[in-house]
Amino acid sequence: MARGLEPAASAAAARSARWPGGAVVYEIYPRSFQDGDGDGIGDLPGIRSRLPYLEWLGVDAIWLAPIYASPLADYGYDVSDHRAIAPEYGTDRDFDLLVADAHDRGIRVVLDLVVSHTSIEHPWFRERPDFYVWADGPEPPNNWLASFGGPAWSPDPVSGRLYLHSFYPEQPDLDWRNPEVRAAMAGVVRHWVGRGVDGFRIDAVDRMVKDAGLRDDPPAEAPFPLPMPEELRKLDLIHSRDSPEIALALATLREAAGDVPLIGEVYLPVARILPYLEYLDAAFAFDLLHADWDAEHLAAAIERSSAAGGVAWVTSNHDFPRVATRWGEENTRAAAVLLLTLGDTAFLYQGEELGMVDGGPADPPRDRFGRDGCRRPMQWDGSHAGGFTAGDPWLAPVDPESRNADSEAADEGSVLNLFRRLIELRREIDGAPVRVSSPANTLVFDRGRHRVAINLGDGPATVALPEGATVVLETAAGAARAVTDGVEIDGHAAVVTRIG
Ligand code: GLC
Repeated sequence: MARGLEPAASAAAARSARWPGGAVVYEIYPRSFQDGDGDGIGDLPGIRSRLPYLEWLGVDAIWLAPIYASPLADYGYDVSDHRAIAPEYGTDRDFDLLVADAHDRGIRVVLDLVVSHTSIEHPWFRERPDFYVWADGPEPPNNWLASFGGPAWSPDPVSGRLYLHSFYPEQPDLDWRNPEVRAAMAGVVRHWVGRGVDGFRIDAVDRMVKDAGLRDDPPAEAPFPLPMPEELRKLDLIHSRDSPEIALALATLREAAGDVPLIGEVYLPVARILPYLEYLDAAFAFDLLHADWDAEHLAAAIERSSAAGGVAWVTSNHDFPRVATRWGEENTRAAAVLLLTLGDTAFLYQGEELGMVDGGPADPPRDRFGRDGCRRPMQWDGSHAGGFTAGDPWLAPVDPESRNADSEAADEGSVLNLFRRLIELRREIDGAPVRVSSPANTLVFDRGRHRVAINLGDGPATVALPEGATVVLETAAGAARAVTDGVEIDGHAAVVTRIG
């Protein structure tokens, strides 16, 4: 399959020139990408064996969701040793080989930095209790809630005190006001930079520093604009996260990382990410990910996000339903055009390039918060386990027989080949997106001499073109036709046109 295909000449050179602005970063959820040893769990040698595919696809970088030692309460986001590779993923040597091989192919490697909390099994929790946030109890000191529901305070049976956890109780929050925590984490960052890492995605940045006085979150006047459990939406989350003193933590990371890019997962509406961008290279545009598939909603999210000046575009990841499941299978191709033509860094979650849909939860569920569906394994071929493993997959693939990389690579009209063409084309597109007025249910924007036109409606729509513009990409062959006053685009289709 794609493993044998040759990447476009000079692609590696073109890739290395873009970092991080303009890069396509491919998110790998290591447990579900490729198993190399038949234990049913993805691993580093498995990822390495698929680098030729990623090179063929043309991505600039890979982001590995956590690969560190973890008791897996949150599948790696509960780290018990920030410098150790989880044994089921491989060895230090496997990591070095992966980085070296990726670099040889012009692909950068981004690690996930989970720094707002650790696993409760991290030795620090017992050896350095002062690294965490405590209250005497027995009642919680405030009304803060954990992101996965329930109180953010749990009793520690050993000390009899309450500890703070913004996520699962197995993930106690670190106290970033403690200079020794900051020094320890700076050491972690320097360690991985020394191992050749090219960038970091920083987990849950907005949870790193909380109100020093532990004040209650007041009742919300309007619900939080991004999805979260109902009970949290009733509160105005101003003290349990997003402290004005966040700079204290961010400055430490920035200094330790030097000029290695930092991309933050700031789970806040984009209007609130500016203080983070003073230290980070980019922050994810969750406003876009959570926008309805509606021209006006998308346009507004893009405008707000672009105005922040430093977003990384993202339409799916390992936490939320996939594009095909959220925005509809009929829209996956148009959504690919949107993600990859906006400019700036774009994050592409594994399997999206195949148009994968979510599966249901495993029985019993693997993730207690219900995220199994979007974490189903990559579908490499049409076999029962989709080529993901020679063993018994930890989560079953969804539908490898009807959707897989092998067959899509061989089919010029596939979603996969559309992604590949888009990634190649985006190198030629520059300039900020400027919205152009267009008929209802269409979203049209110019970037320099390129015009991107997306028809979100069911029926055909005609979009005006500048003088001399011709179609350079369409979501499917024959999806658009030249008409006297522009281009007629089928429902759910999109085109990119160019002048000259
Ligand atoms: C981030 C991760 C998510 C994880 C959480 C706690 O939101 O993307 O998967 O559960 O942080 O670390």
